[in-house]
Amino acid sequence: MRVDVLTLFPELIDQCTGFGVVGRARERNILNVCGWNPRDYAEGGYRRVDDRPFGGGPGMVMLIEPLRKCLQAVRSADTEPAPVIYLSPQGQPLTQAKVRELAERRRLILLCGRYEGIDERLLAAEVDEEISIGDYVLSGGELAAAVLVDAVARLQEGVLSDAESAMQDSFEEGLLDCPHYTQPAAHALGDVPEVLRSGNHAAIARWRRQQSLGRTWRRRPDLLDTVTLSSLDRRLLEEFKVQYGSETTPET
Ligand code: ADE
Repeated sequence: MRVDVLTLFPELIDQCTGFGVVGRARERNILNVCGWNPRDYAEGGYRRVDDRPFGGGPGMVMLIEPLRKCLQAVRSADTEPAPVIYLSPQGQPLTQAKVRELAERRRLILLCGRYEGIDERLLAAEVDEEISIGDYVLSGGELAAAVLVDAVARLQEGVLSDAESAMQDSFEEGLLDCPHYTQPAAHALGDVPEVLRSGNHAAIARWRRQQSLGRTWRRRPDLLDTVTLSSLDRRLLEEFKVQYGSETTPET
């Protein structure tokens, strides 16, 4: 997969996608992240990329021309067609379903704004989709672009190990993850639940599923409206509610 990112801070994108799973995907050429700086396409000695907003008010707005020329260069760098995605708090919320959809594409073009934003005419002419990573305002689209790159990279074939994929699968079902424990089994902060030490794989799977369901019910009940629960799931959740329902402490 190829991701072209238009940004005034290409180093930021490079750094943010240079570690761990995503860094590995880049090293192995499963993912190619290319940063493009619209300032390289700006005119004049100052290479201006912004100006004051018409109508007055604080802040600056990014100019059409440097972005348009930069986008032209990006498009002609590869024949693979790609949607242009603008990261902004005004966009549609990013969900795992959207991540899955975008991960299928062979190429994405991400547009990052700074200052008060980008001249609306450039957005209307060039942008296919606007995506937000949450209802809060960042100082630019770069961190949001890095989030998107991370989320699509881990879905590329060969990027995750089997164990990581299995974990991903459980979240993909729309439920929150269950708790995890490691050594030591007994600690002043608490003991590891007995069932996880039992060696009974069916009982462990059942416990994990129940914890996932219970956590989702407790912490994100809205997610339960979007998943189809089996009759066993419903039974496990009812059992969880009886066991832990009135407690305000963690589910374990
Ligand atoms: N740019 C600034 N804030 C943003 C957000 N919440 N999501 C995506 N891009 C942004």
